[in-house]
Amino acid sequence: MRQYHYLNESADFILEDPELTSYLYFPIANENGVMASVTPSLHGDNKMGQNTYLLAPVSVEELHNSKASRNFWCIMEGKNPWSVVGNSSNQQANLYKEEKEKTYLRAGIMWQEVERISAVYGLKAKVLSIVPASGETVELMKVTIENIGVDSVTFTPIAAIPLYARSADNYRDHRHVTSLLHRIHTTDYGVIVNPTLTFDERGHKKNEVIYGVLGTARGANPPVSFYPTVEGFIGEGGSLEQPRAFYSKNLIPMAAGESVAGYEALGGLVFENVTLKGGEEASYTIAMGYGNTEEDFKKEAKKFLLSDKAFDDEVQYTKNYWNQKINIHYRTGNQEFDYFMYWVNFQPMLRRIYGCSFLPHHDYGKGGRGWRDLWQDCLALLMMNPSGVRGMLHDNFSGIRMDGTNATIIGTKQGEFIADRNNITRVWMDHGVWPLLTTNLYINHSGDIRFLLEEITYFKDMQAVRGEEKDTKYDEGLGKRVKTIQGEQYQGTILEHLLLQNLTAFYDVGEHNHIRLRGADWNDALDMAKERGESVAFTAAYALNLMTLAELLEKLEEHGVTSVLLAKEMQILLTEDITCFNDIERKKDILYTYCKQVKESVSGQKVEVFVTNLVRNLKNKSEWIKDHIRNEEWLTNAEGFHWFNGYYDNHGQRVEGDFAQGVRMILTSQVFTIMSGVATKEQVKDVIRAADHYLYEEKMGGYRLNTDFNEVKLDLGRMFGFAYGQKENGAVFCHMAIMYANALYQRGFIKEGYHVIDSLFRHCNDFSVSRIYPGIPEYIAENGRALYHYLTGSASWLLLTVLTEMFGIKGRYGDLYFEPKLLLEQFRQDGTAKVEFIFAEKSFEVTYQNSKRLEVSEYQVSKIILDGMVYESKDLRCIRRSDILKLSNNQMHLITVVLC
Ligand code: G1P
Repeated sequence: MRQYHYLNESADFILEDPELTSYLYFPIANENGVMASVTPSLHGDNKMGQNTYLLAPVSVEELHNSKASRNFWCIMEGKNPWSVVGNSSNQQANLYKEEKEKTYLRAGIMWQEVERISAVYGLKAKVLSIVPASGETVELMKVTIENIGVDSVTFTPIAAIPLYARSADNYRDHRHVTSLLHRIHTTDYGVIVNPTLTFDERGHKKNEVIYGVLGTARGANPPVSFYPTVEGFIGEGGSLEQPRAFYSKNLIPMAAGESVAGYEALGGLVFENVTLKGGEEASYTIAMGYGNTEEDFKKEAKKFLLSDKAFDDEVQYTKNYWNQKINIHYRTGNQEFDYFMYWVNFQPMLRRIYGCSFLPHHDYGKGGRGWRDLWQDCLALLMMNPSGVRGMLHDNFSGIRMDGTNATIIGTKQGEFIADRNNITRVWMDHGVWPLLTTNLYINHSGDIRFLLEEITYFKDMQAVRGEEKDTKYDEGLGKRVKTIQGEQYQGTILEHLLLQNLTAFYDVGEHNHIRLRGADWNDALDMAKERGESVAFTAAYALNLMTLAELLEKLEEHGVTSVLLAKEMQILLTEDITCFNDIERKKDILYTYCKQVKESVSGQKVEVFVTNLVRNLKNKSEWIKDHIRNEEWLTNAEGFHWFNGYYDNHGQRVEGDFAQGVRMILTSQVFTIMSGVATKEQVKDVIRAADHYLYEEKMGGYRLNTDFNEVKLDLGRMFGFAYGQKENGAVFCHMAIMYANALYQRGFIKEGYHVIDSLFRHCNDFSVSRIYPGIPEYIAENGRALYHYLTGSASWLLLTVLTEMFGIKGRYGDLYFEPKLLLEQFRQDGTAKVEFIFAEKSFEVTYQNSKRLEVSEYQVSKIILDGMVYESKDLRCIRRSDILKLSNNQMHLITVVLC
């Protein structure tokens, strides 16, 4: 098995024989809605949304099962038809024989090129695929065919791309009936499909989108004829990999200007016969895409079809466009790691485009992102493109309900949340955790502490009392905002929103006085313990949040804010009576009384609360949780290992520890007890020992999410229905593994944190086991294969962890700190490690200089040199914001941080 090799600083790579690995797909997309997946054999799909698929939707299995692809043929007299992308029956049959054609895949951010060499035909073909970053709603494909032999070769070039042209819902349901809606016609340059109606869950409507495939030869010449339907191309008994059109005289291509209705459509473009002498080449440009009108589509496509230069310029523009967006770069002792991180840094951009649904492994959902993803994707944005984040964070807060839960159906526009009309009441108990994490990072990077005092509305739908009751008086027509009894829109500060999320959670406890699991926590598949389940893991995360809120308030106080205004109804949540913390019934009572008060509307009255009191109040709550978990949930098992129990199931039983079916341990439970400081230093050491023993799996690149419960545990969640070692049941789930690394770094367990990231990296980087292109997947399965590539929250967390923990680039209330936690082995030969990044809208290149080659435990920051001048500061590790703001915006500032 060959590895891929990186080609340059943009982390472009080359892979030999890519089609000998299954399940590979590559994303090409733009910010105007075009989302495609493309495989080494040009399978994959292209869509603009759930109801607008140009190419038929694919899940991973269709990548090898479907014969529909972006095919391109060369038909030669007396020889088998040759597919330049390997999709002929003949080529398929030879895949594992000596006759296999040599293939190479080259790819970089948002472009892919496949090269195929046929010794038999004496031809070499390259197929370059991009979606223009300039925003045209097309996918472009340039096919270049070269005669690599001595004798002349004559062939007929034919593009054959099936056009699905409808909603993904019709892939099975109404597949045939919806083909009857197709109105297809041939034009000078290709095939257009204009379905009359759309049939999908929205009902039968007049179709508004046209689809098509257009093409030219040598950047100018239109095709000479067309196959506009699948039936008219594959004939009887044929297939897209062996079309009868190439053998039967009865299947005659059509001329331009003809129409046909009611069939599966095909972008079948027959170009003029061509003869290539040895060394000569011919090229074909294909544009497939969408338009509001046929004219729109043709206009956009023709820009690239009628000028080779325009096409080449667009390729360059697209490459530059995306590469410029990646503005965090590393130079460590391991160049492969730096390149790997280049792809990881790109991944959050993909998730913003594709959501969680639109790549082949993500064959769930119909687009959109969840609440958790919304906030975590902002982490990456904060690092790479901080301007605009403030507004986005602000608007996202309007998705919070007065009962501390939040909207779960998220609209496409910023700050747009959709009321739950389906009565599917699901409350994820972790949702209240993420906004503060992101907001805290924002405040620390920007120093914008007053952001907490900005006001914003609350979300309203019929769900009330944390999913337990319905507000039957709610009428969507009156808007999705909480109103006062006087009927005015109610607004509270961002601080108030955050307090509400965290305080309501504090009181929302189950029978062990931990926060109830409800619909699930971070682990979406812990979804069957709604009544009695508790998540100790995320209770610990809330303890961290309560402390963070207290610290932010202390900072606010330093800025002269001594009191804040909060909704009057909230007073009950701020009771000073700490005796109620141990009293589960009183806690529930407090929460219920509060939730009832805000069920339909609010009074609109505010009370003044002194910051000092609030700080004390929050700290008390946080400390109480920490002690409670420390005292109640620390486990010791028969083999002498110790760790934290993180869950209670729907029978109210403890989930982790020794069981007849084996030892049960969950990584999540350890991550948040470590991150929050629930675990003492000694306990962290014990947890590491237990995790290394029970969860670490070399062949899977790291720490599994859990041990094998050997039970389909219906009183906890669907995850136990998954095979062990897959997805949320015991895979190496990268998101949690990276959060584990993050927690370890934060607590000063640097070698251990590095070990987590390094194992993951080494695994992913070894194509022979991971079988994915560069980047971080959602998870690594039992057999070592990495799955659900690209669209994963783990990318944001890895980016964050490498930059802020490993490289120690930290914002502290607007100041810039350097607290590197790089191991000696991570420095280059010359004792340096570099990172480029953006902070306060300025670009920096930081060089850590470890000339004496010291280990991380031995070095400290001894000097900072900023743009050639020694920077004087009380704290040697810090550059003050006031000085950063004086720096110019349009140059890269060079910082050397001397370590000794
Ligand atoms: C996915 C979801 C994420 C969820 C996780 C665990 O992870 O997107 O919200 O918490 O599964 O169930 P991801 O693919 O983002 O790594």
